[in-house]
Amino acid sequence: MPFVTEQNLTDIVLERWSHVPDPRLRQIMQALVKHMHAFVREIEPTEAEWFTAIDWLTRTGQISTDKRQEFILASDTLGVSMLVDAINHRFSSKATPTTVTGPFHIHDSPEFADGADMAQGAPGIPCFVHGKVSDIDGRPVGNVMLDVWQTDGEGLYEAQRPELPDVWMRGIYHSKPDGSYLIRTVAPIAYTIPLDGTVGELFHRTDISPYRPAHIHFMIKAPGFHAVTTHLFQKGDDYIETDVVYGVKEPLIVAFEKKPAGSKAPNGEVINEPFYDVRYDFTLQRLAQAAAA
Ligand code: BEZ
Ligand code: FE
Repeated sequence: MPFVTEQNLTDIVLERWSHVPDPRLRQIMQALVKHMHAFVREIEPTEAEWFTAIDWLTRTGQISTDKRQEFILASDTLGVSMLVDAINHRFSSKATPTTVTGPFHIHDSPEFADGADMAQGAPGIPCFVHGKVSDIDGRPVGNVMLDVWQTDGEGLYEAQRPELPDVWMRGIYHSKPDGSYLIRTVAPIAYTIPLDGTVGELFHRTDISPYRPAHIHFMIKAPGFHAVTTHLFQKGDDYIETDVVYGVKEPLIVAFEKKPAGSKAPNGEVINEPFYDVRYDFTLQRLAQAAAA
């Protein structure tokens, strides 16, 4: 074996990792070595810079807990989470596209009847989200589970209101046999990702916007269909083109139609204050249907 030089080092490392018995691990590790060496060769870090990087990664791990995952946030803000999501959900262009789950989803939300108010007195402008769930051939799909979570009208998720003992701004709905669904909530607002950690440290050295446009998260599941984790984004939001986690896809942008006080809501009730009417139809792809049909 030749001893190392700057020129032959990458090849020597790759050769050593070429004997890993597990073919997938071998492929992943060889690609990692190849791309990391290419990265280092391109940027030619000083030793101080390399130590800064190691220190940043170390602190990113140290501040992560079961409630806060700074590495996921880093992956989100570098667009890696959306790339992994895209690679794993190559649906038909007719199906509702997926996006990242993000850090604020909480399992086992309470069940709400069709049309029930999941805001339960939370601050914000009343908002009715309604439409149909169908398959990509236009047939309605009933009994689809819609797990919904979002910020309140002050831009905070349940995890950001630790003072509250109860469930906050999340709930599970089901489509009716004709595929229709109706959610009553309050309108979310745009918010920044958490900036008090190592990702924030990095952002403070840039002029990249840390905002996410106003959105409502959905995790949609029905037997026989691909599950869809996605968002609905408010059309016209200032940050729609600069979402810090690159989550906005064109078919997920929806008009939040503002109705004046005294208008009839989609549930037939007259609402004595201004509210939003949001109409959106979800389209699910059957498991048997080809990935990119
Ligand atoms: C969210 O939408 O909740 C979110 C997603 C990725 C990073 C931070 C927040
Ligand atoms: Fe969110």
